Amino acid sequence: MFLESDSGAEAADDTQALPAIECPLSKAGIDKTKLKPFEEVEDYIQFLERSDRAEWQKPDLVVKALALKGTETVVDLGCGSGYFTFRLSKAVPQGKVIAIDSQPEMVRHIHRKVLTGEWPNVRAQVGEPDDPGLPSHADCVFVCDVLLPYQEFVVFVKP
Ligand SMILES: C[S@@+](CC[C@H](N)C(=O)[O-])C[C@H]1O[C@@H](n2cnc3c(N)ncnc32)[C@H](O)[C@@H]1O
Repeated sequence: MFLESDSGAEAADDTQALPAIECPLSKAGIDKTKLKPFEEVEDYIQFLERSDRAEWQKPDLVVKALALKGTETVVDLGCGSGYFTFRLSKAVPQGKVIAIDSQPEMVRHIHRKVLTGEWPNVRAQVGEPDDPGLPSHADCVFVCDVLLPYQEFVVFVKP
């Protein structure tokens, strides 16, 4: 169970899957008091989470097709609202999901959900558009609907 707040206080993590939660915006040097939770962000989140999407994209089947064992480290690169992040989280209960987005507002949205304690294996992280800051090890880098220059993507996933 996590006991900490957005301020970055210590956590008690009985999964040992991830280190204590720290604010990903502070970590990226972003002053969250300067962020303006403008209406467009909420609209964009609603758009990404729209119900018709599941009908044609079948996100649960997409995650199932990854055939994850449940212990992997998965990166959701360009995670947006976390449409896939939280599905991936359920697919790796003994693993972890690193959700990366270049938009701090998206990262904050996910971080807020993580702070509820319901998603103990998810961490959100701000990534630079040309360098997402991938972890040193990942079993899977999941990308959906993100325009990344191919050349850069090859560099990102290179061991
Ligand atoms: C269309 S949304 C898709 C979100 C999510 N993957 C999904 O399927 O719902 C694209 C997201 O990718 C992020 N993004 C775009 N370029 C990026 C980059 N170079 N690095 C990290 N995130 C990026 C955007 O900020 C946006 O949140």
